[in-house]
Amino acid sequence: MIRICPSILNADRSNLALEIAKISKESDLLHLDVMDNIFVPNMTFSLEESRKIIEEAPIPVDAHLMIIDPDVKAHLYAKAGAASVTFHLEASSNPELTSQQIRGEGARVGIALKPNTPFSTLAPLMEFLDMVLIMTVEPGFGGQSFMANMMPKVAEARAEIDAKHLGKIWLQVDGGISLETISQASLAGADTFVAGSAVFKAGTPGEMVDSLRLQASKS
Ligand code: DX5
Ligand code: ZN
Repeated sequence: MIRICPSILNADRSNLALEIAKISKESDLLHLDVMDNIFVPNMTFSLEESRKIIEEAPIPVDAHLMIIDPDVKAHLYAKAGAASVTFHLEASSNPELTSQQIRGEGARVGIALKPNTPFSTLAPLMEFLDMVLIMTVEPGFGGQSFMANMMPKVAEARAEIDAKHLGKIWLQVDGGISLETISQASLAGADTFVAGSAVFKAGTPGEMVDSLRLQASKS
């Protein structure tokens, strides 16, 4: 099963409802990048803004928290109604408890790894997770180049999921996903794909979501 999650980071923020309407029929989840200008050098949606987007979005929201204090705040995004809440392992001092709090609010829980964080750091936490996010760029900005050298890490995560978790855990990649790069990520074992600029810079974003899905399913 392939899931495509358009990121609205670089969509037209002055008319988000219209932007979201362009992709909601074709997409599985709406990827919401939350940045605090501390964990990453960029600032995006506040909790209040996120809540409004979550409430108004016609499809489930996949919140990706790039913030320094997920142990305090991650569960609030679940409480606000996000279907999935992903936080960075690098920012958490109690990932087990934070995962349990997110699940306690009824959301799926994901943990993200920056490019320099090895997959081995996550292996002991797999039982608490519904999704693993392997970043394929340094988090912070859309429109960066896909890091093909992350594919061994994706393959390592896929092997672990298949061996011990019966494929129930989604394996997401985020950063530089396009028609040119999605096959590599799919071949390495990813099943859930975030795409920002590839989708919203396309003439017809909804058709691009379909094309990305088709391309990923061929690999
Ligand atoms: C980057 C964000 C991504 C970003 C992806 O830190 O996590 O979700 O929006 O954008 P593209 O697809 O343009 O690399
Ligand atoms: Zn993201």
